[in-house]
Amino acid sequence: MTGNILSKLRLDADGIYSYDFISAGQDDERRSREAYASFDYKNYLDEISRNSSIPVMDREVDIFLKKIPRSGIIVDVGGCWGWHWRRNATIRPDVTVFIVDFIRKNLIHAKKVLGDSINNSVFLVHGDATSLAFDDNTFDGWWSVQVLQHIPNFKKAISEARRVLKPGGIFMNYSLNNQPLARLIYRIMGKQYHIKGEIPGRFYLSRASSKELDAIKETFSNEVKQRFCEVFFQPELRIRFPGKESSIIGKIDSFLSMDPPLFAWIARQRACYTTKIMRDHHDKSNNT
Ligand SMILES: C[S@@+](CC[C@H](N)C(=O)[O-])C[C@H]1O[C@@H](n2cnc3c(N)ncnc32)[C@H](O)[C@@H]1O
Repeated sequence: MTGNILSKLRLDADGIYSYDFISAGQDDERRSREAYASFDYKNYLDEISRNSSIPVMDREVDIFLKKIPRSGIIVDVGGCWGWHWRRNATIRPDVTVFIVDFIRKNLIHAKKVLGDSINNSVFLVHGDATSLAFDDNTFDGWWSVQVLQHIPNFKKAISEARRVLKPGGIFMNYSLNNQPLARLIYRIMGKQYHIKGEIPGRFYLSRASSKELDAIKETFSNEVKQRFCEVFFQPELRIRFPGKESSIIGKIDSFLSMDPPLFAWIARQRACYTTKIMRDHHDKSNNT
């Protein structure tokens, strides 16, 4: 199966797979991500912990991987430096991961973060979430963290997710939550809390919303569950230390991730997950 997937891609001299794609409507984002990726980072996990809670996301990865069948194949869309999968050789060596990102330099960093697993159990693909170069019904899991929120045409990315998932495959998306507590603190401090629209010179951001949830429900025609996580890790409020890999507070935080409503008012991320079910005649005829 992996050989089949790779046969549709070009293997470039830098060890990264690619295909021709057009990214529509994310020019500012591409520029700012290119600039961020141009630096040399000495300690990747330290840098990552400024923007993500490593203990929280490690536990989320563990939970996701438990749902993936033996020798399953997953795709991480907007996977950037690929750090979510750095423990796979120990925890799930049977699983193959395809990391797709539209910034090639991010994938070059991923090569350093993931070392020997590159082109063994992890493959890096320079591509776009809204036009994936994979066949229908390819993956057991589609995973994406804080990417849909930056894609103006997020509905296209969701329909691509459903298309490439096998029947029974798991869709798991994390977006920034629209946090009532942070909104209140920002208002008290007289600062703007960005909910939706362009952040000039940086990127488009649309926090998790009922529109995103409805688009997932409509595309998958299935129940969509929600999960809130990162309760203590609040970089927007300058609380970053729980994001460190070894943080005990971070480890406690990882066990606070749960379905609504308990932490919906404070959690930094809101996740949506569902399963692909066969839907109609169209699916069946595509499958034959
Ligand atoms: C906020 S970062 C999140 C990175 C990673 N998922 C993580 O959790 O550390 C967003 C990533 O999505 C990528 N990205 C944004 N839009 C994309 C698109 N349309 N197709 C592929 N990658 C995209 C960016 O290059 C960047 O690496």
